[in-house]
Amino acid sequence: MHKFIIRGGNQLKGKVKISGSKNASLPIIFSSILTSQTEIGNVPLLRDTKTAISLLKNMGFKAVFKDGQLSIIKEANIKTEADYELVRTMRASILVLGPLLSKFKKAKVSLPGGCAIGARPVNLHLKALSKLGAEIKIDHGYIVANVKNRLKGAEIVFDFPTVGGTENLIMAAVLAEGKTIIKNAAKEPEIVDLANALKKAGAIIEGAGTDTIEITGVEELSKMEHTVMPDRIEAGTFISFVATAGGEVVIENFPYQTLETVVKKFQETGMKIERLNSKTVKVKKNNPLQGTDITTQVYPGFPTDMQAQFMATMCLAEEVSIIKENIFENRFQHVLELQRLGSNITIDGNTAIVKGVKKLIGAKVMATDLRASASLVAAGLAAENTTEIYRIYHLERGYENLEKKLQQLGANIEKRRTEQPY
Ligand code: UD1
Repeated sequence: MHKFIIRGGNQLKGKVKISGSKNASLPIIFSSILTSQTEIGNVPLLRDTKTAISLLKNMGFKAVFKDGQLSIIKEANIKTEADYELVRTMRASILVLGPLLSKFKKAKVSLPGGCAIGARPVNLHLKALSKLGAEIKIDHGYIVANVKNRLKGAEIVFDFPTVGGTENLIMAAVLAEGKTIIKNAAKEPEIVDLANALKKAGAIIEGAGTDTIEITGVEELSKMEHTVMPDRIEAGTFISFVATAGGEVVIENFPYQTLETVVKKFQETGMKIERLNSKTVKVKKNNPLQGTDITTQVYPGFPTDMQAQFMATMCLAEEVSIIKENIFENRFQHVLELQRLGSNITIDGNTAIVKGVKKLIGAKVMATDLRASASLVAAGLAAENTTEIYRIYHLERGYENLEKKLQQLGANIEKRRTEQPY
């Protein structure tokens, strides 16, 4: 186990480069189940991408991962199963279901359990795949799915624009017979990246990034070569770091178009965010932060994956900020930890009322999930004295070399082994 030790108070200065997107990499890695061969560039080295690669290797794929370049080749005997041991460590493992069914006509995938931020069922994934003709049952904690000949295209209207559900269905439909129309589809940029990757292997997909996606099934896909988009949540997280710590940072590989809502909200707090070119921004803190309200929404609304980091920022703002979480029912676990650092936050249902304080004071805190961990880093960078963050394995699921990137910007942050059992 490791912990972070942060001695707050240093302003950030210099340049940082954003890594490849975790949430785009995962479905693209799994879509190699559908192709003859895959070459993916800009894959971040994270616990989650390593888990995705382990899952494929466990099924019998050959994978070589070096310097962000991932090559995957299908071997002769593929096991169409995803075991509990791997799925329980990463819910996105459910994304193997669609491609396995479509390519091999059968799949056995452990049902993901609950998780810290909410119940997160997969009912919408299963309902949609059934509409394409899959027979699905739950057996001893596993989803067991079969299709007699080939999946058949159909019209699916999602009750909610689920990101993973849309991705699973796209991957199932690309090899299905005929046309699939997905209505009320999720519009997140990672879905566009997945569609672009699949199109390079010969898939026919129109409308990704809108709420109606049309997929015309093909017999087979060829080699897929793709470079993963930059991680918009990592990019937004670095804005929050500059906002709490202060300073001036140039962020390279910044996916501006996918972050307009987030940029606008940080600008409302008084942060200066200037575009230097299509891939680079300069972020600067000039003045005290002003309180601003946010409500999390599906894309292009304010992302739930930035809520915790924005809240940490608002802990230090003048006035009161109202933060509403609309996507997950239990995504305020960071609040108790931020309170340990001296913040003033009250919760009423899915709403947090944040009254800004003049300063935060370091303490020992516990990371509870991936983005909650990032919010504690943001707060720790500004807090007086020392902040120790335990359970940073959550953070390592989704941020590549975070402490090194922050050290290069002048932060006093150290990763140290801990003997504590938590
Ligand atoms: C993805 C992202 C995650 C992000 C989330 C919302 C990945 C690997 N993860 O998660 O970082 O926070 O989108 O932007 O890309 N739901 C159901 N039934 C279903 C599916 C979803 O009720 O079958 C509910 C969920 O419990 C949740 C909401 O819908 O409350 C959103 O879930 P979804 O969009 O599917 O998120 P994920 O794909 O799990």
